Amino acid sequence: MTKKITIAIDGFSSTGKSTLAKQLAKQLGYVYVDTGAMYRAVALFAMQNNLISVDSFDKVKLLTKLKNIVLEFKFNTELGFAEMYLNGENVEKAIRTIEVSGFVSKVAEVSEVRAKLVEQQQEMGKNKAIVMDGRDIGTVVFPDAELKIFMTASAATRAQRRYDELLQKGDSVTYEEVLKNVEERDYIDTHRDDSPLVMAEDAVEIDNSHLSREEQFEAVLDLVNAIINEN
Ligand code: DC
Repeated sequence: MTKKITIAIDGFSSTGKSTLAKQLAKQLGYVYVDTGAMYRAVALFAMQNNLISVDSFDKVKLLTKLKNIVLEFKFNTELGFAEMYLNGENVEKAIRTIEVSGFVSKVAEVSEVRAKLVEQQQEMGKNKAIVMDGRDIGTVVFPDAELKIFMTASAATRAQRRYDELLQKGDSVTYEEVLKNVEERDYIDTHRDDSPLVMAEDAVEIDNSHLSREEQFEAVLDLVNAIINEN
């Protein structure tokens, strides 16, 4: 029987983590979990309940409501991946807006939020055969993951990718707004006290500024196969 492993994919925003993770999960028949979607759903909850705005964040109230936040992934067979549900409602589209991107890092700084989501993520991965992407998967959620990938690319490259994606979805944003958001999130993600974004010592770093999706996928698949087939 082939060995089942845990694959942790971390890195900066808009480095194509989820595209790679989805491709790998599909190829291997593994479950894919987008942990960023979970933090985004909590940020959306905070927005819907008027707990967060440009100049205020009622952290205390969010903590009192944490137990009311139910997050689920439900597989969409047509799309071929799981979608995020917040308290029973499909929020897959709503969590991808620039507004949510603007608030999510603040919410992700809160230790109690992280503890709740990490526990749920560990539960989802307890039987291995999982590809999980985020910021702290190889360092905090699954420090024993058999394969850890850390993805990077320049902020300008990432902002351009994100900008193209948002335009395609019909969002009216400027490239400068997106670049600002990418840089702000990089700063907060790497400087927060709890689980800052750092590369795990045993992670393989992939800078994909100049790699095609296919080249990247093949390179990572080779790493996976080497681990699965080793005795
Ligand atoms: O991967 P993403 O851009 O959708 O993630 C959204 C935000 O959530 C990002 O700014 C950092 C945070 N995040 C985190 O702190 N830990 C994770 N495991 C995943 C995401």
